Amino acid sequence: MLFKHAQRTDKIAFSPVRKVLERARQLEAEGRDIVHFEIGEPDFDTPRPISEAAIAALRSNQTHYGPNKGMIALREAIRAKLKSGYGLDYSIEEILVTVGAAEGIMAAMLGYLDPGDEVIVFTPAFMNYVNCANMAGARTIAVPLREEDDFAVRPEALRAAITPRTKMIILNNPHNPSGSVTPAETIQEIADLAVKHNLLVLTDEIYDQIVYDGVQCVSCTAFPGMRKRSIVVNGFSKCYAMTGWRLGYLVVDASLLPPILKIHQYMLACAPTFLQAGVAVAMMDEEVKRAARDMVAEFARRREVLIRGVAAIDRLCVNTPRGAFYAMLNVELTGLTGAVFAMRLLEEAGVATVPCEVFGEGFDNYLRISYATSDERIREGLERLAAFTGKLRA
Ligand SMILES: Cc1ncc(COP(=O)(O)O)c(C=O)c1O
Repeated sequence: MLFKHAQRTDKIAFSPVRKVLERARQLEAEGRDIVHFEIGEPDFDTPRPISEAAIAALRSNQTHYGPNKGMIALREAIRAKLKSGYGLDYSIEEILVTVGAAEGIMAAMLGYLDPGDEVIVFTPAFMNYVNCANMAGARTIAVPLREEDDFAVRPEALRAAITPRTKMIILNNPHNPSGSVTPAETIQEIADLAVKHNLLVLTDEIYDQIVYDGVQCVSCTAFPGMRKRSIVVNGFSKCYAMTGWRLGYLVVDASLLPPILKIHQYMLACAPTFLQAGVAVAMMDEEVKRAARDMVAEFARRREVLIRGVAAIDRLCVNTPRGAFYAMLNVELTGLTGAVFAMRLLEEAGVATVPCEVFGEGFDNYLRISYATSDERIREGLERLAAFTGKLRA
């Protein structure tokens, strides 16, 4: 007997990034060597003190339900990081430990969006925003970023997109897939608009510690009038190479938390306790801090390898990301769309990338490259990219 599925799932797409990854894995299973420029995850190991602390917590049977908001020790560690790293004053009651930032995004949207609400999303955008907003029945309004602006947010474009139905702006800083970092002056303008039009800002700062060239990531919640309207999404996946641990957190003014907490309570109850205990113990550890800094230094070096490598390839160009570990490769001059280029590059040259059309309309000429892979693999990928592009001339 066939069951009719819930209508809300009609508006949700399977992850196209996963689709590329699955095809790449299939080719690997057939014996092909694949360079992975598609996956958004650091190739480093989780810093050892974190794993050791989690193992110790497991051995000491910290395996029971914890508080819905997360273990107090972890929320204390997050509170301390917010204070010392960003000068932000939040109590532990305003911090919610989630199962990855992904859960935080979903819970925040289900907690605050109703059918008919409009959500402004800067495109190209991490796909969870549109899919989660759709699940909540809301409507996303795309505000495209432009290569000529270095994929920076243009406040005048944001202003033009605001309507009486706008409820939320989503800011992703540093930005996936372009690696742009929003400067403080722009955040000030976004904040002014949010205050003027009484809007929530969901600010996804999961790459906040991965920045280059002395650039600083400033949180929108630090601006006047923003505390009561900001939902800060963050997590441990990217900055500590812990994607499989599925730990993230939300930071919100106490007045904003209850609807989000209700969703979290019934969906997850709490994040796994012994994993939380591990991170709590290790978060302030000097070795962990050093490991996180070393990863950023390594990403910065890899970014140089990528940028210099692409500059040497005729008809391709790439932006200079200031944060995260992604760049947008423009393939327009090859005459192929990003989708066809990406598909052929994978099948013919064994290099997996993500066509940026999946991140929003109008980005058909771009591919996302993740340089969170080793130097050696980046060089190999660049060689294949050069050979493949050269062949297209024939
Ligand atoms: C912008 C952005 N936000 C959130 C996430 C999800 O992170 P997590 O692994 O913590 O769920 C990702 C992962 O790729 C991301 O790129």
